[in-house]
Amino acid sequence: MKPLAIQARACLRGLLLLTCVLQLGACASLTQPGPADRQAIAGKTFVVTGASSGIGRAVAHELAASGANIVLAARRAEVLDEVAGEVRRVGGTPLVVVTDVSRAQEMERLAQAAIGHFGRIDVWINNAGVGALGRFEDVPARDHARVIDVNVNGVIYGSHAALRQFIAQGRGTLVNISSVQGQIPTPYQSSYAASKAAVLGLGRALNQELRLARRDRIRVVTVLPWAVDTPFFEHAANYTGRAARSIAYDDPTMVARAIVWVSLHPRDEFPVGWKAGGAYAGHNLLPALTERVAADVEHATQIESGPPAPPTSGNLHQPVRGGATVEGGLRSHSAR
Ligand SMILES: NC(=O)c1ccc[n+]([C@@H]2O[C@H](COP(=O)([O-])OP(=O)(O)OC[C@H]3O[C@@H](n4cnc5c(N)ncnc54)[C@H](OP(=O)(O)O)[C@@H]3O)[C@@H](O)[C@H]2O)c1
Repeated sequence: MKPLAIQARACLRGLLLLTCVLQLGACASLTQPGPADRQAIAGKTFVVTGASSGIGRAVAHELAASGANIVLAARRAEVLDEVAGEVRRVGGTPLVVVTDVSRAQEMERLAQAAIGHFGRIDVWINNAGVGALGRFEDVPARDHARVIDVNVNGVIYGSHAALRQFIAQGRGTLVNISSVQGQIPTPYQSSYAASKAAVLGLGRALNQELRLARRDRIRVVTVLPWAVDTPFFEHAANYTGRAARSIAYDDPTMVARAIVWVSLHPRDEFPVGWKAGGAYAGHNLLPALTERVAADVEHATQIESGPPAPPTSGNLHQPVRGGATVEGGLRSHSAR
């Protein structure tokens, strides 16, 4: 191909990418629940895994303010009781079910508790997740395996329980939290990226199954957030030798509102906000370049700079006391 034609094609792709980013930026503000959505939430039953901190806790707050029934699942019983108190105070009805999502029987028990208490499940949000940072060979194999147990098997068990109930009810929405990493894998988070790609693949396969079975009142949404300012980075296993970091964190409340919104307006894949939307669109147009740029940024942020930190398996194998808030305090730290 002639050089001029190659340049023209590159310009066109760049222009397309820019247009997508601008449009997604404009759309971001439209993906928050409005008054009609809040009415639709009242009295509906939502199961939220990973409700003890970060995005899950923020989702519980959002739903509670609209009068939802919320089944709160995670491992830290005392923190879930605290979240239940917050839910009650603003008008929601909570049910705490202490659950380790990597255990099939506990996930089945979670579904049965929700149905036994509220009679049905309208939306099931598989949000619980863990991460492990470090060069692939430096992260212990049991930590990689645990990331898959929680992030993939946990989502499979949750999706299985939810879909069986939705089929019995004739309707329902399953929301699985993946990540931009599911679409654009970056180095030093290999098993995490693999787990989030698995969640994305699961959603694509399930939506095709539902289409073929003509179950059009049952939907599976895969959500792809950008980096979010939650305790996730404090909780993650970390063998990089540096404190866990990312860049340009999103507000967890904005992300939680978008998750609540999409549970009422389902679509197959939902990158949250303009950064995730831009990266997702960019990857569809220029996958190799997007992955290379993301990898270079990750290397510079996580490996070449940042304060030293000792190795830790974080909250992978058992819950930790710290980081039970919605926010991780990372944006104020980055600003400083
Ligand atoms: N923060 C980000 O930058 C970001 C970006 C994209 C996607 N995400 C995804 O968003 C989701 C929520 O993460 P977050 O940012 O809110 O982090 P977080 O504050 O660490 O929340 C993770 C939640 O998962 C729960 N959890 C962990 N292991 C569990 C297990 N085995 N069984 C049950 N619950 C378990 C934790 O509670 P317990 O310890 O009490 O069990 C906690 O409630 C995750 O799937 C994450 O991968 C996060």
